[in-house]
Amino acid sequence: MKKLLTFGIIVAGLLLFLASCQNKFIIEPLPEPGDTVSFSQNIAPIFTEQGCIGCHYSTGQQPDLTPDNAYGKITGMGLVVEFDLVQSKIYYNPKPDGEHYAKYTLAQYQLVNQWIMDGALNN
Ligand code: HEC
Repeated sequence: MKKLLTFGIIVAGLLLFLASCQNKFIIEPLPEPGDTVSFSQNIAPIFTEQGCIGCHYSTGQQPDLTPDNAYGKITGMGLVVEFDLVQSKIYYNPKPDGEHYAKYTLAQYQLVNQWIMDGALNN
């Protein structure tokens, strides 16, 4: 009987452990496939969240990535090429495993990816 109890406790502990692990793999919710990523709602806020505007505005470093100016600067400076991730510096410069001064999280990186593959719209 004692053995059974011990076994039960171990199994319960294991299940709890597994359940807690699972949460670590849940990253920020991404738009569903088929949803269009919005530049103003999904992309521009990233530049503020990640501190990009600490340089890309405050120090005068171009592109200016403040919400009102980011789209015009990114497109005007040729930092995004619709449907072409390799040519889009706004995508690969701050990649999560890159060397830039600030980086995207994996979820943000996927959002920028999807925005470019949606046609890099000013939406
Ligand atoms: C500490 C200051 C600093 C921060 C923070 C920073 N950058 Fe930069 N960024 C620079 C500098 C300096 C350059 C130009 C030299 C270079 O490319 O390294 C640059 C260049 C760039 C370029 C290429 C511009 C061009 O004309 O080729 C992009 C795109 C860019 N940054 C995006 C971002 C994004 C997005 C973030 C936030 C995730 C960010 N940067 C955070 C300093 C910064």
